[in-house]
Amino acid sequence: MISNLITEGIIGQPKIPGDKSISHRSIIIPSISNGICEIKNILKSEDVMHTINALKNMGVTIEEDGNILLVHGKGLNSLKKPKNDIYLGNSGTSARLLTGLLSAQNFDSVLTGDNSLSKRPMKRIADPLSKMDAKIVTTNGSLPLYIKGSNLISNEIDLRIPSAQIKSGILLASLNTKGTTIITENKVTRNHTEIMLKSFGADITIKEHENKKILKIKGKKELTSKNIDVPNDLSSSAFFIVSALINKKSHIILKNINNNPSRNGIILALKKMGAKISLLNERLSNNENICDIEVKSSDLTGCELGPEFADLMIDEYPILAVAASFASSPSLFRGLKELKVKESDRLRLIFLNLQNCGINCKVEEDNLFIYPSKKYNVNTNIIQTDYDHRIAMAFAIMGTKIGPLKIQDSNSINTSFPNFKNELNNLGGNIS
Ligand code: S3P
Repeated sequence: MISNLITEGIIGQPKIPGDKSISHRSIIIPSISNGICEIKNILKSEDVMHTINALKNMGVTIEEDGNILLVHGKGLNSLKKPKNDIYLGNSGTSARLLTGLLSAQNFDSVLTGDNSLSKRPMKRIADPLSKMDAKIVTTNGSLPLYIKGSNLISNEIDLRIPSAQIKSGILLASLNTKGTTIITENKVTRNHTEIMLKSFGADITIKEHENKKILKIKGKKELTSKNIDVPNDLSSSAFFIVSALINKKSHIILKNINNNPSRNGIILALKKMGAKISLLNERLSNNENICDIEVKSSDLTGCELGPEFADLMIDEYPILAVAASFASSPSLFRGLKELKVKESDRLRLIFLNLQNCGINCKVEEDNLFIYPSKKYNVNTNIIQTDYDHRIAMAFAIMGTKIGPLKIQDSNSINTSFPNFKNELNNLGGNIS
């Protein structure tokens, strides 16, 4: 994919796809609940298709009726042993959540994935689950994962790594486990699983205690399906938001965007940098915060963000780094350790590709420094993505400002935002 320079800004109302995190949960949770769940606006991307196919392989009826997806749930113990290994492509969320779900079933299963997913750490989910007596064998700490389904034992689990995927995997295991599982969360992570479980009638309580969250969940309680309207994805929106901010004469409106406070750090960070962003029509849908977002071209200043921001916007650092490259002063983003174990080592690729684009930057420990200047001498216009969708989209937006940039392996974008190129081009982008 080649992302070319634009001069006239982007204008209009792009169609942002459904939220990826909520889409995965909208398949998994109704599959083990009772009743038919009607899902509107589910994200139809490769990652979510892997979750859908996994549940279909376990006997769940999932069908399309026009724009609605129907999941026929038959209760906590209705899943069947899959006939084959479960292949999850690039999807870390599917892998961590399904590991939890499958460890508490009465059958064995095997999880596999593509090259990138097969390098990602899985002991982070296997280890806390083993405290509940789960029997999971990793391959050198990664996929393939061999899961021997069994009756687990409830326990108290302290979340050492701030990860919604780990928390959600444990919650899904706890649903089918006798007794009360207690999870202590030391840092904020996105809470979509808890929100959905509550509305499906799970016996779950959440209390704040000395900056920690204590989640208590009593297992073996059957859940009842509710219909779900998936809001649009803030992480996918962020590429359009930054493109509008850095390109003069831009003005866009994004509708029905998820603005969950456990995950909206990108809005807070960009506002800190002087972005003209207005949140309109703030409301609740399925107990998730949603709003419309209006964005106008802005003169950005640099900013310093502490590690607490990483908890609220871990997926958005690639595109935030692009925004910071066009600010009038330097930026410093601290505490980016988790960025190294995403779909790629994102900290390394942000640094490498910024340097390729001629942007002065450095990484010290887990901190990223960006020193923008008025002149850019592009060193090479080839962007290395290691098949990471967010690196590909972030540097496609960089291309709108300093293009042409050749984005390698750009079909990774299909994992989360298949229509990205067309939506950007519809607003005045120039991607070929
Ligand atoms: C996700 C959680 C985050 C995020 C990922 C999606 C989820 O990962 O990076 O893209 O849906 O739970 P971690 O929870 O591992 O940080």
